Amino acid sequence: MPFDFRSLLRPNLPAASPAPFSGYPEFYFVGGNNDADSIPRKKLGEIAKSVLEREGGSLASYGIGHGPQGYGPLRTFIADKLEKRAGLKCSVDEILVTSGSLQALDLINNLFIEPGDTVIAEAACYGGAVSRLKKLGTNVVGVDLDEDGMCMDHLRSILGDLKQKGIRPKFIYTIPTVQNPSGSVLTLERRKELLEIANSYAVPIFEDDCYADLLWDGERPPAIRALDNTGSVIYCGSFSKSIAPGFRVGYLVADWSIIGQVLPTKTDGGTGALEQMVLAEYATTDFDQHVSELSAVLKDKCQTMADALEEQFGTAAEFTLPKGGIFIWITLPDQVDTSLLAQIALREGVAINPGAEWVVNPETGKHRLRLCFASPSKDQIRDGVKRLAEICHRETGIPMRGGNTTRAKL
Ligand SMILES: Cc1ncc(COP(=O)(O)O)c(C=O)c1O
Repeated sequence: MPFDFRSLLRPNLPAASPAPFSGYPEFYFVGGNNDADSIPRKKLGEIAKSVLEREGGSLASYGIGHGPQGYGPLRTFIADKLEKRAGLKCSVDEILVTSGSLQALDLINNLFIEPGDTVIAEAACYGGAVSRLKKLGTNVVGVDLDEDGMCMDHLRSILGDLKQKGIRPKFIYTIPTVQNPSGSVLTLERRKELLEIANSYAVPIFEDDCYADLLWDGERPPAIRALDNTGSVIYCGSFSKSIAPGFRVGYLVADWSIIGQVLPTKTDGGTGALEQMVLAEYATTDFDQHVSELSAVLKDKCQTMADALEEQFGTAAEFTLPKGGIFIWITLPDQVDTSLLAQIALREGVAINPGAEWVVNPETGKHRLRLCFASPSKDQIRDGVKRLAEICHRETGIPMRGGNTTRAKL
């Protein structure tokens, strides 16, 4: 008889994984994966060899002799990059290197959130952030979004209503630059307005900027933290989207009042040291060139997906072409429930993110879906979107073929 752990486990755990990983489906349009051919393998390999020869001895210590905030040269690179690309001046002491920006989200949630607390976020928002907050018992309140990002009138009215009820939200979580999933970029005017509104209600902002380096259309506005002079904005970024998620390296930028408070709670013994050393050396010389080449590849794949959607779904798939990033946020007609579609499509080799998992209020995501175009090849994008359209048509009559509809089942 195998040992039965069930009566010992903590209550309310998430559903257990049904089986060990057995490979990706044929068409994998979910997750924030990157373009495999764009990984600079040769250069990274040479750098890994040389940093190991030069500084490998430091791996004998936790923190590789640079302390709990991360490898010094990497923090120097991050500070330089933020000043140059996001107009954000910060010192290396205001930077904490984390194990992916997901760890940054966990650290900040851990600092602020108790069950019953309120957090404000964009109404459609990164599933990993919303699910984390909800698991902690947070009341997440969604703010309407349009092509210019979070709508300030709605934010103002939400904060006013909450104040009347005596509720002060713990923070406003926002992805202002290439928003996940909408792809919108919050305008400079709205960034200033957001700061003004948040400050007037004494609510901090948690700015997640992990896609900001992948903007291919237009200039990015300065980071919200760059526009703030009160220290009320906590900022996080990542190398997952600009270089590779497999490195698991992200960062938090905040005043010492936050970094100093986070440090004792980051109890993992330090973020992977070799990754930090390799990234620092690579990024210092090659970041700009790499990111501009990667963005061109992503823009091309995005267009391939947009063309495939148009060809296969016609007017049934509504979307705005994103200005950067790795995904398209799509609305299908009302009769398609994308959560059911996702289950059926997965059985037939097509993985998609159903909209309900990418919004604060699941009802509002019922007919939406997110498709990532960074990791599949262009042929996979074309063939996978075609297969998705065939499945969707078979199950719901959407997209219509030559005016011939079948009865919707989903
Ligand atoms: C908005 C946003 N924040 C954070 C993350 C986490 O990224 P990582 O932990 O790889 O840095 C993601 C990943 O997709 C994301 O979309």
